[in-house]
Amino acid sequence: MKKFLFIACLLCAAGVVTPNLRAQSINIQTDEAELILRVGDDGRLYQSWLGRRFTNRADVDLLPRGREAYMTHGMEDYFLSALRMTHNDGNPSLLLNYVSHESRAVEGGAVETVIKLRDPKYPVEVALVYTAWPDENIITSRAEIVHREKRPVTLYNYASSMLHLDAAEYWLTEFSGEWANEVNRSEGPLSFGKKVVDTKLGSRANMIVSPMFLLSLDGPAQEESGDVMLGTLGWTGNFSFTFEVDNTGGLRIVSGINPTGSEYTIAAGEKFSTPEFIFTYSTRGTGAASRNFHDWARRHRLKDGMGDRSTLLNNWEATYFDFDEHKLAGIMDDAVTLGVDMFLLDDGWFGNKYPRSGDHQGLGDWQETTSKLPGGVRSLVETAKGKGVKFGLWIEPEMVNPGSELYEKHRDWVIHLPNRDEYYFRNQLVLDMSNPAVQDFVFGVVDGLMTANPGIAYFKWDCNSPITNIYSAHLKDKQSHLYIDFVRGLYNVLDRVKAKYPDLPMMLCSGGGGRTDYKALEYFTEFWPSDNTDPLERIFIQWGYSYFFPSKTLCAHVTSWNKSTSIKFRTDVAMMGKLGFDIMIDELSEAELAFCRQAVVDFNRLKPVILDGDLYRLVSPYEGEHSALMYIAKDDGPAAGKAVLFACDMNPRYGEFTRPVRLRGLDPGRMYTLREINRMPGSRPSLRLPDRAVSGEYLMERGLEVFSTTRARSVVIEITAQ
Ligand code: GLA
Repeated sequence: MKKFLFIACLLCAAGVVTPNLRAQSINIQTDEAELILRVGDDGRLYQSWLGRRFTNRADVDLLPRGREAYMTHGMEDYFLSALRMTHNDGNPSLLLNYVSHESRAVEGGAVETVIKLRDPKYPVEVALVYTAWPDENIITSRAEIVHREKRPVTLYNYASSMLHLDAAEYWLTEFSGEWANEVNRSEGPLSFGKKVVDTKLGSRANMIVSPMFLLSLDGPAQEESGDVMLGTLGWTGNFSFTFEVDNTGGLRIVSGINPTGSEYTIAAGEKFSTPEFIFTYSTRGTGAASRNFHDWARRHRLKDGMGDRSTLLNNWEATYFDFDEHKLAGIMDDAVTLGVDMFLLDDGWFGNKYPRSGDHQGLGDWQETTSKLPGGVRSLVETAKGKGVKFGLWIEPEMVNPGSELYEKHRDWVIHLPNRDEYYFRNQLVLDMSNPAVQDFVFGVVDGLMTANPGIAYFKWDCNSPITNIYSAHLKDKQSHLYIDFVRGLYNVLDRVKAKYPDLPMMLCSGGGGRTDYKALEYFTEFWPSDNTDPLERIFIQWGYSYFFPSKTLCAHVTSWNKSTSIKFRTDVAMMGKLGFDIMIDELSEAELAFCRQAVVDFNRLKPVILDGDLYRLVSPYEGEHSALMYIAKDDGPAAGKAVLFACDMNPRYGEFTRPVRLRGLDPGRMYTLREINRMPGSRPSLRLPDRAVSGEYLMERGLEVFSTTRARSVVIEITAQ
């Protein structure tokens, strides 16, 4: 008997589970949470638990078997399946039995578990791949599907993840909006039936609905307590999250590529890999859940996640398409005056037969407009270098205007219906990234510019149109592959860019925040959250993104939107993210310019707090006319002991009572000094702060009276531990 147990243990350690060990669980664990799967007596895989990680491991045996982990279509389940396909003989069903599983340590302290499943009647195999990052409490899940049938098999649904939850109440928060009005948070309860959060916009996938959700159990989500789950898909294209409450009150969440219009045919031996579904399960509310995502992103996902970020001056809103070399040289001088690291040249620098004098033509012709820029990018890079600022450049390489030489030459490269009128979104069409020739062209845009001008230090990569007129000349009889192959083609290009230029920072932009996902962010250091830079709106937009994305990814520029607000207010709001400017500085008074210069100095000094610290959302703008958040530097980082508090009054009522803001995340036993920064030169302090050190306990229990009843007013307080 002892010998048998010994052999059984060895087999378990190797991850090979024999039939008589089926009750054994497969634990996908982080420090805080765990997903427990187990094989039932019928040989199928079940999810027994998703929630807090059990301390007493013996209790795990008490858990009921649960629901099937990755349900297939056509068997005895009556609700949404994770996988649906039709076999060569027309049989539309699939049944998956457990075969084996294996866990191994992978990069970044994570553990990857691969569970193999197989249909007993048809040669179809599915591998479920889970990766758990213990420190950051993040789990990713994806599926690999392969078959050995004689002829190709069509996949109709192919989820990255299926998860089950059982609670008295489910509250779903989704993030949606429009151009210049992105990621509005809205929360509601789920009841029997389905709720779908999805998009089919293709390239500019999340212009209207963002690929992320927040699910709270047993009541609406709270910042500091309660069981919540944040989930998102690492896919720069059509996504879908379906929440289905069944007849027993159980909730299943099916996440993946949106299968609408995307049936996918795979030949024998061809592997279909789904993108990653990425989630965190927090038992300490949304604040901790967001910090999980921020830490994971910086440490493991974001391009150069632990690296520095440059401040910049962009010319888009300052000039739009109206500039020449002389004007740009002047703006580079402004960048020097402001003290930022970089000048970013936006749209309007290219096209000769069809000069890019507006947004109606030129896209696709990536040669400098000689009448406007006779010395080309080369001379601009030189000028910037001479002035001691870096040079960045805007491109939109996946797109084409019908008014372009590219369109004239390669109409077959354009996604459009051959027998219908073309429909334009911002006067443009999308290139067919499924076509390898187009991939070469798009890579060539970056590579050509970099080869000719190695001094380019940064790209802003834009994408202003969703996919319209869906048809690919390249894909012929596989039209339903286009949405997926478009994204795979994009990744192919971005892989090549990253391999050749590994240290090149890039901003992801999509007519504002139309592309914000964690696969794209493997290639991009930051993104443009919205074209709306009105600070009163940005408070909400940045708040929405902050659930998933760390501040160092959120480009936030001081512009001329909503000039009724002060430069201080606009700067304070922008400084909650990755600070930049897009403004003619001759519009600024001497005091305002001095203020901005000092803000840049302080931002640079406080980057380790603001960009790399822990975010605490204190007062939500959704709950009234005030908002506050703070960042606390990591204990092992260069700014240990520092924190920065941002507080904003939006449109308060006359005579409204304001309450002190209770800080979070400080050490109650430590003493802190407080100093107001970002003050207009010569102005009186905005508030009276204690003139001696205060305990963390006081700051977190009593709090600070930082709000007022003045419209569009803000304060920034630097907090330093003694
Ligand atoms: C998009 C971007 C803007 C700007 C313009 C240029 O709208 O979001 O920031 O780059 O394109 O055309």
